[in-house]
Amino acid sequence: MAWKANCRVSAPCDQGTDEQVEEHDQVGSAVRDQAIELLFGALARDERGEPCGTIACQDDPTSHYANVWTRDNVGPMLFFLRYDPSIVGLFLDALIRRQSRLRRTYGLMPIGFSPRYDAVDYGGEEAIGAVHSVDSTLWFVILVGLFVETTQDLDWLRARREALEAALGLLVAPRFDPLPLMAAPESVTEIDRPAGLYGYPLQLQVLLALALRWAARLLDYLEAGSEIGAWCRLEAEALQSWINRWYWIDRQTVDDRELLAPEGHGKDNPNPFNIDYSRLRPAIATLPPGCGYLGGTLRTRHLDTRLWPFPNLLAAVSGILSEPRIEALMGGIAARWEDLIGCMPVTVCWPSLTGPNYEIWMDGDARARPGSYHNGGHWPYILWSFVAACLASGRGELATRALAVASSGLPPFWAEFYDSEGHPGLNARTRQTWSIAGYLVADEALRSGIEAFWQVRLVPQGGWLVAAAPGPLQQER
Ligand code: GLC
Repeated sequence: MAWKANCRVSAPCDQGTDEQVEEHDQVGSAVRDQAIELLFGALARDERGEPCGTIACQDDPTSHYANVWTRDNVGPMLFFLRYDPSIVGLFLDALIRRQSRLRRTYGLMPIGFSPRYDAVDYGGEEAIGAVHSVDSTLWFVILVGLFVETTQDLDWLRARREALEAALGLLVAPRFDPLPLMAAPESVTEIDRPAGLYGYPLQLQVLLALALRWAARLLDYLEAGSEIGAWCRLEAEALQSWINRWYWIDRQTVDDRELLAPEGHGKDNPNPFNIDYSRLRPAIATLPPGCGYLGGTLRTRHLDTRLWPFPNLLAAVSGILSEPRIEALMGGIAARWEDLIGCMPVTVCWPSLTGPNYEIWMDGDARARPGSYHNGGHWPYILWSFVAACLASGRGELATRALAVASSGLPPFWAEFYDSEGHPGLNARTRQTWSIAGYLVADEALRSGIEAFWQVRLVPQGGWLVAAAPGPLQQER
């Protein structure tokens, strides 16, 4: 199958060396052909006969896995952005047609939808349990940003202004919280069952920071100097700084904060979440010197010390983490290769919860027993972010190593997730689309690099920000 990129707008960066691509190609090119065929097989068409995204898996046609899930389409859309951006535009339009116009959820994007009719699934009626998705709306804004940046189609953007602003309304609405972080209950992202992540889950903060950056950029296109655009920019910066300051875990953090009282209050409290940092010692004892990572969630008295690779890697590829921190993260992952990559890249979190923690936080969920599903299962959808972060940090050899593991382990099942022996996990679906796309985008990143626009930083330019942002908004930082 001959594939030609018909769109390459921003300079690609951080690709593998010729030797690395050659090494990967020995097995990878055949696997890639198979993956491309499978990905196109997953394309769903709406009642008008137009593509409207990809279904979650091809082997379970009667369940909700035959729906188009918003988050499951991120990997596929990253691939189509390069090869056929029109599919991305159609997917975004399919979401817009189903965007909530109800008062309580105005602007919310569905967790997923059935391609056959314009039915909406805001509250997770067709998902597992009463799960509502927050990540769908955040991914929507990010994908609109990537689509517009790729196509430069500002007419397309102007015609969707109302939908974009409705989604942004949810990001910038006043809430019961003075922090720039976004609080959430369990299950609002792909970890859609209890996992002890309630509070301020890392994944949401990273996606929110990216969505706010893209919102600021898109609003610049629509109306340069708008007040709301300036607000998004400030919020993105504040969030980035909170993520770096309060989620980062390494030896230094614990050494510096161990003696802080975990009972302070007020705006000058040096330990705003009242964490007892001495309790992080066992976790950092397992970290190789010089390594670190962002913890999984924050809430009062609690910083989750499990490593959740996906939000960490997203923070790395999008420049939320500084270069030394990306190195510290990738060094830690390389040192824990067997646990984090093992027979299939990449584990969703490490270590798994066991004993009473598993019983209480995961409610003893049989599917999520230690080492399985959201409790340490290995999920190929994370692969693209791993390979991109390897390349961004000059660790191309890790990227080819992970791709080699995936190339030999993914076919023929292309399962939703795997156990630590590399077998499809308990009740895992097969021919799972985001597993297929995770491989394809990783393969593409090694061959041609990741687009520079992942790095969009939106550093305030000159006096523009100061002139545009009204005083009261700034004073709240
Ligand atoms: C499962 C996963 C969720 C995914 C969905 C569809 O519910 O936990 O993250 O979006 O399947 O693949």
